[in-house]
Amino acid sequence: MYPWIEAFHVITVVTWFAALFYLPRLFVYHAMTEDQPGNERFKIMERKLYRGIMVPSAIAVVALGLTMLFMAPSLLSQGWMIVKLVLVALLIGYHAYCHYLVRLFARDQNPYSHVWYRVFNELPVLVLIPVVILAIVKPF
Ligand code: HEM
Repeated sequence: MYPWIEAFHVITVVTWFAALFYLPRLFVYHAMTEDQPGNERFKIMERKLYRGIMVPSAIAVVALGLTMLFMAPSLLSQGWMIVKLVLVALLIGYHAYCHYLVRLFARDQNPYSHVWYRVFNELPVLVLIPVVILAIVKPF
């Protein structure tokens, strides 16, 4: 059973990251939009991506990960897993901040420029690279 849970953990990591990369990219183009039909279209795209892909994927990643920890609790005594969990907590914070931004855009209250969103868009990769290395190489 464990390898199946791990396989679906990795599959849902991929779908979560697809949304974590694409939603801030939508913010970049939304922040550059000046026409009302375009503005409304981006609001729908952002809401559907957040609710339809990003939230279910995040719940599945965490639920499957916690199930594996429940099945193999000794993983919690390994340093790489502790560091991984700290980085995942940062990623959940990023996810929550994306939700806050979706709600600001929905109320036409975006406070940031498209340049700010371009930088913001790069942040998930700073978690993706170390977490995958930690989970696969298990260096400590
Ligand atoms: C609360 C969230 C998470 C928990 C509790 C969790 C927990 C786990 C556990 C227990 C394993 C199995 C490790 C083993 O048996 O050696 C695992 C594997 C894995 N996790 Fe997570 N994880 C979480 C989030 C993430 C995230 C966000 C990523 C990607 C950025 C990720 C990437 C991976 C990968 C790539 C593997 C497979 C490692 C291998 O091939 O052995 N996990 N995770």
